Parts: sequence; C-alpha cells; structure tokens
Amino acid sequence: MDEQKVSEEKKLSQDCKELIISLPREKGWLTSYLYLFQGFWYSSTEIQAINTFQNHFQAKDNDIVVASVPKSGTTWLKALTFAIVKRQYFPSFENHPLLVFNPHELVPPFELVIYDETNWQVHELPKMPEPRIFGTHIPFTSLAKSIRESNTKIIYICRNLFDTFISTWLFVNKIVPEFLPRLPLEEAFERYCKGIIGFGPSWNHILGYWRESIARPDKVLFLKYEDIKEDVVFNVKKIAEFLGYPFTKEEESSGIIENIIKLCSFENMKELKVNKCGTMGKGRTIENKYFFRKAEIGDWVNYLSPLMVEKLSKIIEEKLSGSDLSFRVYELNHCT
Ligand code: PPS
Repeated sequence: MDEQKVSEEKKLSQDCKELIISLPREKGWLTSYLYLFQGFWYSSTEIQAINTFQNHFQAKDNDIVVASVPKSGTTWLKALTFAIVKRQYFPSFENHPLLVFNPHELVPPFELVIYDETNWQVHELPKMPEPRIFGTHIPFTSLAKSIRESNTKIIYICRNLFDTFISTWLFVNKIVPEFLPRLPLEEAFERYCKGIIGFGPSWNHILGYWRESIARPDKVLFLKYEDIKEDVVFNVKKIAEFLGYPFTKEEESSGIIENIIKLCSFENMKELKVNKCGTMGKGRTIENKYFFRKAEIGDWVNYLSPLMVEKLSKIIEEKLSGSDLSFRVYELNHCT
C-alpha cells in the first residue's frame, strides 16, 4: 500500500505534494487515499489536475460542460449532447463518430484527461473544434472561475443514490488495481454513507448544481437519469433548446430525434465494437465495456439489505431536506 502511495505521489508537483500533506485523508476506493479538498474527496492526482484546471482553464462562451456525479448516466448524456450539438457536422447515423469512439473520448473530462498530467492533453485544447464539449465530475463550486462567470452552458445529470452507489461499487471492483483489495459491499457502503467517495459527498455535489440551476436556469440544466429514461424525446428536445441548438420542424419530421436516441441508446452503444473491446486512458487503462452494465432503475434491490436501505434513506432525506429534490428509486412498474 505504501509503495503504491509513493508511486501515486511521484506524479505530483512539489506544490501539490505540500498541499496534499495538509489535507484530511481517508482510505480510497481506487487509490490508496482520498483527500478532502474544497469540501470534496479526491485522489491526489485529481487534486493536482483540478488545481491546474482552476488556475488555467479559459472558458469560451460557446463551450458546453456535461457535469455529473460519477455513475449517474454521464456516458449517456455525453453521447446525447455530442449527437445533438454536432449534428450539423455529422448528419449520417451510418457513419457517426459515436459508432467508433466511446463518448468519453469525444467529450473529454477536465480532471481525468485534459488536466491529468499523466495524460497531459492540455495542448489539444486550442485544436478542439468549436463548440467544445467537455465532461467533468468536479462540483460546481470548484469549477474554473471562467466557466462559472462566462456564458458557458452546463448540463448536469444525477441519479438516485442507491443505483449510483451500486453502480460505482461494481465498477470500482472491476477496475481496482491489483495492489488494492476489492472493497466488500459493507465497507464501501459505510464509506459512502460518510460521503467518502471520489467527488463526494454525492448529496453535496447534487445540491451544488441543483441550487445553481434554480438561481441561473439559463446557465445550468439539471437532469435526472430516471426522467430521461421515462421520456427521452422530451429531454432530448429540452437539452437541444437549452444549449441553443433547437430542432427545426423539418428536422423533427425527418426523424432525427429518434435517430439520435437510437444511436445513443444503451442497447446500441453496449454492442458497438469500440465499447465491447476498446480501452481508454493512458496510465491505467480501463476497458470500455465496464461503462455499460445494466442501465436499470432499481437494480440496487439485488444488493442492499433492508438495514442499508433504511440507513441511506435517512441520510438522503436529511441531506436533501428543504431542497425540493427527490428521486425515483424503482422502475415505475415495480412501484407499490
Ligand atoms: S461514469 O464512469 O461516471 O462515466 O459512468 P456513468 O456513465 O455516469 O454511469 C454508468 C451507468 O450508466 C449506464 N449507462 C447507460 N444508461 C442509459 N443509456 C446509455 N447509453 C448508457 N450507457 C451507460 C451504465 O450501465 C451504468 O449503470 P449501471 O446501473 O451500472 O448499469
């Protein structure tokens, strides 16, 4: 474990090492430790990337940021956003970038790709075609100032925290490096309930974007995974309008919305060669297939005990109280 910590920290600048030492830390899920930075938990390399991002990123007014709590439907929303916004450049659904690239490659995240010095793709920024579409799991209050202060639009997706937790736990145990133990469900659950998870506490992450979406509805569009599943046509139109790329009547009657939905559907994306056999990342590679599991609402019932459900329900109720936010936790046809 300590050897690994040393190798994780080798990648850090001296300034970042000094910063990390001063931060509260807890055991990590995918790295030896998570550190509490600006109110949220991150790995040391993520903190370095966020720091660089905060100090250097210059937003443009036509930039788009797809923000999310990890495992809330990021991959889906990135695909939909890319297909909607870039439809003028990629009108063919037989020959579309989403058929050969994973959505995370087309919509790169700030903290895990662009400003991660192990990948160091920051030099690609000037070459990115406009409108630039970025991804991020960074909480609203920690976004680069230029994003918060420019006309950059943010679309945010979250998901009920029971499914988010289970999706994260299963994903982490598939990609956890060999030198770290696989996390038993009970231990992961205890850490989650304390908010100790990458980019957590998840409830604070959600509330940050939720409040901003209320204060500035033209800046932040707040979406829920469950709502998009329930009415994907309505939400695709809503995203297009919010981002300033509304569908014309002619487009609507040509069936383009249905084509976008089909292209980005779980069933289609999961079966694509790039998502079955491809990998992403340069340091630690991750198999793309792990981003596509079940895509169901309520799969957590197969994992969480009644006591766990009671505990997490109470935490969520308390944390979200007074916010007017609630989540559907079962598929509608499972509701009693
Ligand atoms: S990540 O790592 O944060 O980008 O993961 P994220 O994409 O946010 O979440 C992964 C879950 O989303 C499901 N998924 C989808 N749902 C609907 N449509 C599409 N196209 C889609 N692609 C991925 C994926 O299966 C994960 O949910 P679970 O419950 O684990 O199946």
